[in-house]
Order: sequence, then C-alpha cells, then structure tokens
Amino acid sequence: MPKKLVIANWKMNPETLADARALVLASRAAAKGVKAVSLVVCPPLLYLADLVKEFGKGPKASRMVFGAQNSHSEKSGAYTGEVSPTMLRTAGVEYVILGHSERRAQGETDLAIQKKVAAALKAGLSVVLCMGESRRDDQGEYLHVIEGQVKDTIPQLPRKQLDKITIAYEPLWAIGANAPGAATPEEVFGTTIFIRKMLTEVVGKDLAMKMPILYGGSVDAENAGPMLAKGGVHGLLVGRQSLNPKDFANLLSAVGAIK
Ligand code: PGA
Repeated sequence: MPKKLVIANWKMNPETLADARALVLASRAAAKGVKAVSLVVCPPLLYLADLVKEFGKGPKASRMVFGAQNSHSEKSGAYTGEVSPTMLRTAGVEYVILGHSERRAQGETDLAIQKKVAAALKAGLSVVLCMGESRRDDQGEYLHVIEGQVKDTIPQLPRKQLDKITIAYEPLWAIGANAPGAATPEEVFGTTIFIRKMLTEVVGKDLAMKMPILYGGSVDAENAGPMLAKGGVHGLLVGRQSLNPKDFANLLSAVGAIK
C-alpha cells in the first residue's frame, strides 16, 4: 500500500489564479512537515496547467502533485467544453477524479464513468474513482448501489492498470455544506469491507487487497484521524476543508499523526 493519500478537491474554487497560487503554496508548506502523506491538489481546470508548470516539477514538488476533477473518454474530437486525459497528462497532471457525485448528478452514468476511467488509465493518469450511496437504509439496500458501481466499472478495465486506481468512498449524504456531518468511522469501516469484498469478486483477492480506498464527505481535522485509525481507509478526499489553509494544515497534521 502507498503512503497515506490526501486528495484536495477544490471544486469550483477559488475565484482567481492568484488565490489558487496562494492556496497551493500554503498547502505545500502544510504538507512538508507531515510524514508519510502524499498530497494531490485538484484545482479548477483553468488554473491547472499554470499551477503544474510553476509548482509541479523539480525538487519543489516534494510530496505534492496535481490532479484534475474530470476528463473525457476520448483523446480528442468534437466535444465542446471537454478536456481529454491525454491533454491533462501532456500538461504534467498526474491524477484525475472520476465519478464524483456532483458529476453523476449532472447525468454521468456508470457506463460513461467506466469509459472515462479506461481512457484516463490508457493516457497514463492515476484515477480516483468515486462511489457511494445517496441514502443509507437499515436494510442494507444501499450496498446494492455500491455493488453496481464497482461491477459496472472495474471488471472491464485492463488488470495490469488496476494499480493506478484508488477508490474513494463518498456517501452523498455526508458531502457538502448541507450534510449533517461525516459518516462515522464504523460506518466507513463496514462499507470499505464491503467494497473490498466486491473488488475481490471481480478482480481476485490479490489485486483487491492492493487497491487503496479513501473516504470523502465532510472530512475535517477532528474526524480525519479517527477515520484513518478506525475506518479502514488509506486516505481522505477533502472538499471544503482544503480551501482554508489553517484548517487544511491541521487536517494534514492529524493525518500525519496516525501510524
Ligand atoms: P466536502 O466535499 O469535504 O466539502 O464534504 C467532499 C467531496 O465532495 O469530495
């Protein structure tokens, strides 16, 4: 398993490139003092190439690399408003988040996501594949949602590229400012075991055990440690708290403190 992984998903923030530069500098400084944590910063697409050029290469890069928040399933073509994984890779981007619930909400299907993941892997990107249920019921119906998300995407991918996939378990009800809060580490633990079981069914135990699983949804400095210690995850996908340098520095320290 790799080091602990923290993905900063900035979504459609901040509003200017100057603010984005400042946030990269602060995030990088915060990550520097923290042991055994890899940081992936995912800014809006418009800033990505500039930020990679300035901060993504050479000794400065240390423990921080860049990711995109989406990419298309084709290399090029008549797809207005889209960007291809080849373009991202050529620009020095290393990761892409795919299947985020905020994109699924705009109509992205498991089939479309599967094609995007395959194209991103082919282009040489590492993929953070998001999945999660919109509501958690007592009968365990929500597990069928996750089962579908695993089975509609993973088995169709080339086995030798599966080591470039990280799963992010993000229950929709725990994401964003309107959520009542994060899932509990116990809930996350149960679901990661289930995801691992589904992965084992489709790719076999060896590969399934090697695939990192992250948690995302209202992660903060307080729940980050318990989530890693008791939730059975290898890292965190962080939205809002990655936008405030002080909060994010505290969060990274909490992650670093977990053995
Ligand atoms: P949040 O977002 O941390 O703001 O809840 C997480 C995500 O959507 O990736």
